Formats: sequence, structure tokens, C-alpha cells
Amino acid sequence: MSIWRWADLIDFVPEHARITLGEGQTPLVRSRSIGPNAGLKNLWFKLDFVSPTASYKDRFAAATVSHMVAAGKTRCIATSSGNTGASLAAYCAAAGIQCLIAIVEGAPLGKLQQMLCYGAKLYRIRGFGADIATTSAVMALIQKWGSEPDAAVQVSSYKYSAPGMTGVETVAFDLAEQTPTIDHLFCPAGGGGLAVAAARGFRKLVERGVLGKSPAVEVVQPEGNDTMASPLRDGHTQAREVTSTTRISGLQVPTINDGHWAVNECRASGGSGHVVTDDQVWETQRRLARDEGIFTEPAGAVALAGALRAARERRLTSDAHIICMITGSGFKDPHSVEETVAATAGAPLVNLEEFSRLHES
Ligand SMILES: Cc1ncc(COP(=O)(O)O)c(C=O)c1O
Repeated sequence: MSIWRWADLIDFVPEHARITLGEGQTPLVRSRSIGPNAGLKNLWFKLDFVSPTASYKDRFAAATVSHMVAAGKTRCIATSSGNTGASLAAYCAAAGIQCLIAIVEGAPLGKLQQMLCYGAKLYRIRGFGADIATTSAVMALIQKWGSEPDAAVQVSSYKYSAPGMTGVETVAFDLAEQTPTIDHLFCPAGGGGLAVAAARGFRKLVERGVLGKSPAVEVVQPEGNDTMASPLRDGHTQAREVTSTTRISGLQVPTINDGHWAVNECRASGGSGHVVTDDQVWETQRRLARDEGIFTEPAGAVALAGALRAARERRLTSDAHIICMITGSGFKDPHSVEETVAATAGAPLVNLEEFSRLHES
């Protein structure tokens, strides 16, 4: 099963052009420990990294590469912090499309290796993803190259690749099927595409009479990339550009991208903005593994870090039904778990004799 079972609700692609690797319909699991300990009785995790390339971006890649196949495109030119690139590289491989990706400087090893294995051509660009001038210049170049007739530009945001983003809206359709009550959906945000997609997906369900009302879509950002969370919380209508200083891979997006839409559409859903520190994110990443058995990359822990902060600030009621998007796998970013691993007993190599005596000691 794939996102294409929602074909009547997403941008239309003829059946013969649909590329799928089995994305979508990811698990929704209840928190056993972190929620109850924070006084949240109904905290849930949407495990959207349980997906062919281990991040939620497969919803985007399935839709956007299918659109490319339908339009007869043979070259994909993309930008990525890692996960979009890994997804596009995989779906382009499946579709027989060439894939060239401009990557932010700090992309983690796991994501780079994955893209290379799928056969994509990669360039890491100094300053891309950190300073506004370099990031804007890369985007302009990519758009120029992507305007050639056999090529298409792919960036996982409505601003650049709107048809593909309708694939991400299926996360709302999944959730509406999986649980009867959602009060808040917490989303990590870099460029804001995921939050906008969730808000639009729920809006479509309300318009179709499937849901009575949309849950509040809550935007969570690291304080080092606060383009939209504070503007949303403080009542502004515009996102803002920043110099990105966060070290959370995937959320280093200093430009606006889908920020204005995120601010206005998440507010319309009843949601607000939440800011967390990188340290809070890493601590939450550790807790998700230790207390819940969920191995996520740092960006995948951001939504929960935001929900826990909102709970501490008494912005959530104890019986509210809260879902946190867990968007990428821990295997994507081995460096981010080095400290946690170093604090354990490790995995000593022992001989059979030593191993057999373990029980005695
Ligand atoms: C794991 C993960 N979570 C969240 C996001 C944020 O998505 P968006 O840029 O659509 O806000 C990204 C973006 O790359 C990501 O890789």
C-alpha cells in the first residue's frame, strides 16, 4: 500500500506513472513513559521514519517523482539537507531518472552514504543552509538549471515543488484513519513544508466532511533557526529570515520557504509556535530511545521537545490528545548518538571463556 491509495485526495497522476516503494501508513504508537511522566495522558508518536528511506520525505518523493515520470522528465535537480535527497535519490533510481543534489554543508554521514548508494550525484556547498546569501544563490542556480525541458527542480516545499507536497498531506489522512481524536499535532519545522502539508491535509478532510474540525497544528523549531515559531506565537503574519546557528540536521533553513504559509495556516488551525534549544532536542532524542524504544535522528525529536516545553508552560491540558511527528531515523545521523554511546559500557570484545564467566560476576 502506498500514498497512492489516497490518489483522489492528492494532486492527480495517471496510474501508469505512479512510483511507489511502499511509503505511507506509518505506525502511531502511544507513549508509555514520557507522556505520563510529563502529566500528558494521551501522548502519541507518529513514526513517520518507518518508511522506505527512513524519513517522512518519502511521501514527498513518491508524489513528486511520479509527477516527473508523468511529464516525461529525465533529470532531477534538487537541494537537500539529507533526507529529501535520500528520498529523491531512491525514487529517481526506481524511476530511472538521473538525480543531482546540492547539499547543505553539515549533512550527516548516514544521509550522504544513502544518497550515494542510490546513485545520485552530490555536491556539498560551503555556507549552504547557514547563510542567507549563499542559500539564496544556490536556489537561484538550481532553478536556472531545472528550467531546461528534460529537467525538474525538486525542493521539499510548496514554494518550489507544490505537487510533490500534496504527497506529504497524506500524513493527515493516515492520522484521521488511525485515531478518532487529535487535539494537537506537533511538527518539527525547517522550511515549514511539513507543517503546512499537515494543516492542508486536515483542511481537505474537514472540507470533505471526514473531520468535524482540524487539530491544532503546532510548529516547533530550534531557537537557532526560529524563522516562524516565534512569529506564529507572537501574532505576526510573516515568517522572517535568520542566520541559522542550530546544529540540528534538517532544520537548518535560514530562508522563508513555506514560512508565511506555516504561520497563517497553522494559526488558522488553532496551533502556535514553540522554540527549543539544541540541548533540549538531544536530551529528548536520548529519552525517546531509552524510555520509549524509539531511535530517531535529532530532528525527529524536535516535536516532542516542543510538546514537553508546552506542557511545562501549562499550554496543554493533561487529557489533550497530542501527536508528535517523529520524522527521521536515528541511523541517519550516527554522529548525533556518539555521546550517548560513549556514556554506556560499549560493546567489549570478549572470548568465550570471559563470556561464560559473566553470569558469576
Ligand atoms: C527529519 C526531518 N524532520 C523535519 C524536517 C523539516 O521539514 P520542513 O523543512 O518541511 O519544515 C526535515 C527537513 O529536512 C527533516 O529532515
